[in-house]
Amino acid sequence: MPCYGGRHDQGPATTLTGTTRRAETDPARISILSALDQPEASRLPMTELSLVIRHEYPADRAAVERLHERAFGPGRFARTAFRLREGHGHDAALSFTALVGTLIVGSVWQTPVWAGTVPGLMLGPLTVDPAFEGRGIGGGLMRRAIEAAGEAGHRLILLVGDAPYYARFGFRPVPRGQLVLPGPVNPERFLALSLSEDALGEARGTVRPRRPDGA
Ligand SMILES: CC(C)(COP(=O)(O)OP(=O)(O)OC[C@H]1O[C@@H](n2cnc3c(N)ncnc32)[C@H](O)[C@@H]1OP(=O)(O)O)[C@@H](O)C(=O)NCCC(=O)NCCS
Repeated sequence: MPCYGGRHDQGPATTLTGTTRRAETDPARISILSALDQPEASRLPMTELSLVIRHEYPADRAAVERLHERAFGPGRFARTAFRLREGHGHDAALSFTALVGTLIVGSVWQTPVWAGTVPGLMLGPLTVDPAFEGRGIGGGLMRRAIEAAGEAGHRLILLVGDAPYYARFGFRPVPRGQLVLPGPVNPERFLALSLSEDALGEARGTVRPRRPDGA
């Protein structure tokens, strides 16, 4: 799998897929984007662009925060899913960054939570740099995160997001009222994936942060 990096934008420029895209000023990204603009580039499979998806490093933090700022804006911290991370933060061992060379263009976090009495993970934010959307990076990050959760013995992943996007990874709406988040959420966007047996069926009550020591 291939990898990416950071960004500064001004004005529209030509497109890969016919829609207008902002002019790029970051030399490293220009070389990737101009490579992507070549007609044959759109037929190039991602592997040709040396995309790498790896565990998150502390040094990724600033670039990942920029992705979050771009995708969710300054008000993001008031969102229920963001508030769940206020206590203990996300687990970097279950969180991944997508890069091309040294450039970071994608990220997914997973945060330990209790779903009633069932230990689980809250997945999100999942973000991909808009200039690199639609190339499977989001899907690659999701599959890597789900795989790592299973390998680590987790049985349940929850998230707040667009069901039409996450259904392809097996996520389904949480039955209304079964689990309660520490803030308002559109029930159609509160989704779950059971990684073993019917973990969701056993999960009833409040969703709250879970300390790394499991408390
Ligand atoms: C959502 C996001 C991570 C997808 O990343 P990506 O790398 O473009 O995703 P992929 O390339 O793996 O998948 C693209 C496909 O998902 C679809 N898709 C993307 N976002 C979607 C959404 N919110 N709802 C439904 N479908 C969506 C695209 O239309 C495309 O469909 P296609 O395969 O039929 O062409 C990215 O668009 C993003 O960062 N959005 C802003 C932050 C955000 O909203 N994140 C959470 C989403 S709830």
